[in-house]
Amino acid sequence: MARLRLGVLISGRGSNLAALIAASAHPHYPAEVGFVISNREGAPGLRIAGEAGIAHAVLGGRDASAFAREADLLLRRAGVNLVCLAGFMRILEAGFVEAWRDRMINIHPSLLPAFQGLNAQRQALEAGVRFSGCTVHFVRAEVDKGPIIAQGVVPVREEEDEEALSARILELEHRLYPLAVRLIAEGRVRIAGAKTSIAGASAPEFAFTNPSEERLVSATF
Ligand code: GRF
Repeated sequence: MARLRLGVLISGRGSNLAALIAASAHPHYPAEVGFVISNREGAPGLRIAGEAGIAHAVLGGRDASAFAREADLLLRRAGVNLVCLAGFMRILEAGFVEAWRDRMINIHPSLLPAFQGLNAQRQALEAGVRFSGCTVHFVRAEVDKGPIIAQGVVPVREEEDEEALSARILELEHRLYPLAVRLIAEGRVRIAGAKTSIAGASAPEFAFTNPSEERLVSATF
């Protein structure tokens, strides 16, 4: 079966791009990164693309509609079937979002719909939640909204700062994004209204608490 061809949109560091490239290197992984676009000149992720021999382009200094027009053309020319936003910090024009509807996904560092927008990890710490994590979802016109494909959970540790929590969530992002792409590439993701269902997926049965019950029990009795 032909591999799904990914177009990855970045603005900065590119560690999720690197995770997708690493996954593509496995011969049985059903997707490959075919093209990378950055809206920022000098984004470190561009070097990652270059070193991996992946075609890439910078579309900086354009208004939203020029960006959308040129990005659309480049992605189509490169034969991209799925657009992956990976730390892409620019609002996309509605027409672009519509053109790639159900063929464009995003990763966000929280358990959506909690903590949408910027600084999601800081928002989680300020809210005092015991769990946060990351979400991969289909992109809709509203930022950080859209049918959820997969989520990963990270317990928030007491005394943890934003940097430490972000690093632990990011580690999980690097596993979750390739997993979500694989599910799509295998044709297992069906969109039903505001939700998706995943054929053949299983959820762990175990529910756990933070702080952990075990520790509380042994400390108390
Ligand atoms: C990630 O935390 C991602 O969830 C968010 O932006 C960050 C991008 O990091 N959307 P990187 O550029 O992939 O390293």
